[in-house]
Amino acid sequence: MEKFLVENSPPLQGVVRISGSKNSVLPILAASLLMENPCVIKEVPDLRDVDIMDQLLRYMGAHVSRDKESGIFSVQSDSFLLQEAPYELVSQMRASFLIIGPLLARTGRAKVPLPGGCNLGARPIDLHLKGFQAMGANIDIDHGYVIAKADKLQGCNIYLDFPSVGATENIMTAAVTAVGQTVIENCAVEPEIVDLANFLNRCGGDIKGAGTDTIKINGVARLKSGEISHAVIPDRIEAGTFMVGAAVTKGNIVLENVLADHLRPVIAKLKEAKITVEEREDGLHVVADKEERPAGIDVKTLPYPGFPTDMQAQFMALLTQAKGTSVVTETVFESRFTHVGELKRMGADIKIESRSAVIEGVDHLMGAQVKATDLRAGAALVLSALKAQGQTEIGEIEHIDRGYERIEEKLQKLGANIKRIQCA
Ligand code: EPZ
Repeated sequence: MEKFLVENSPPLQGVVRISGSKNSVLPILAASLLMENPCVIKEVPDLRDVDIMDQLLRYMGAHVSRDKESGIFSVQSDSFLLQEAPYELVSQMRASFLIIGPLLARTGRAKVPLPGGCNLGARPIDLHLKGFQAMGANIDIDHGYVIAKADKLQGCNIYLDFPSVGATENIMTAAVTAVGQTVIENCAVEPEIVDLANFLNRCGGDIKGAGTDTIKINGVARLKSGEISHAVIPDRIEAGTFMVGAAVTKGNIVLENVLADHLRPVIAKLKEAKITVEEREDGLHVVADKEERPAGIDVKTLPYPGFPTDMQAQFMALLTQAKGTSVVTETVFESRFTHVGELKRMGADIKIESRSAVIEGVDHLMGAQVKATDLRAGAALVLSALKAQGQTEIGEIEHIDRGYERIEEKLQKLGANIKRIQCA
């Protein structure tokens, strides 16, 4: 068991390099099952979620080699692929469900455990299944498994009731080798969707419209032969997390390997909170006022290009120490406020009213014993602890390691007093 010990830290200063995107690499690795080509994926971050996807691909029969230092992940599933994914892996990571689309398209059958809910809510997969059924698949739910069968998927028109990221990814991947054209309307438009579409087109797919609310996939009989190489986009949520870290600590940092266009809502909201953000040749500069506390603001999460739900907890950490009242509204998940209880243990003044949290800013929080309840909640606690008075002990940090590559090392390089300790 490991914990983070965090002391009140000086303003973050220096340069941090952002890693490859977790939410881009996971669907791309899952999609590699669609083809027998050797795929070389670059800029792959060293995360627990990538470890789980690595184990899952190997279990399914793919050949995997991975260099964590260089971030190169090679995968080839030329051999016989299993058609049933193991509960113990899928239950650890919801993104495992992204293998069902490529498996169904490649082998005609897939048996994958229903991904459990988590503390973001029920997290159903009805839209994924609706898409496969529209493409002619037979879907059964049996003893906690989804069993999907289709001799050959057929292109069709699909309207997503909600612009689900995962459903868009699963259906888009399955449609690449379907017969005829598939049109996905009201699809997700996140940068990670575009990155996946670029990967699939590099494999010989014919996908147009990724990044808009309508994606057209013309099914191809065969994908390209030969090795496919692809570097994933930078992680916009890791970048946003460090930007908020600079704001919380009244710091001045430069982020390298970041695409400002993927961060427009985060940049806009930081500026509204009176934080300076400048786009320069050498990267994104975030400069907080040394004296003034940030201004309290209202934030509402929405599907991209709205303010990202994955930045909600981190922004709340900032607003607990802002001047005045802030309101944070979560519209994407039905319950994504598990960090509120932990922040209140540190002295934050937050009241939850339905899907909103009303925050009265205080001058500073107090160090306490807290625990990470999920990935982004854990990141929010780290950020809060950097400025809190006294020491904060953060437990269950395996959640944080799921989506942040050695976060304590990156923060230490920026001057933070944080260390990882082993405990019983
Ligand atoms: C992806 O999850 C991300 N994960 C999440 O990031 C992110 O929060 C989410 O998209 C929204 O941006 C990965 O990419 C691996 P959704 P996903 O399907 O695909 C409802 C993080 O912290 N819904 O867009 O599971 C669902 O209940 C993680 O990095 C249905 O109703 O998200 C939710 O309310 C957390 N039916 C909403 O849509 C469905 O069939 C958004 O879910 C599917 C989803």
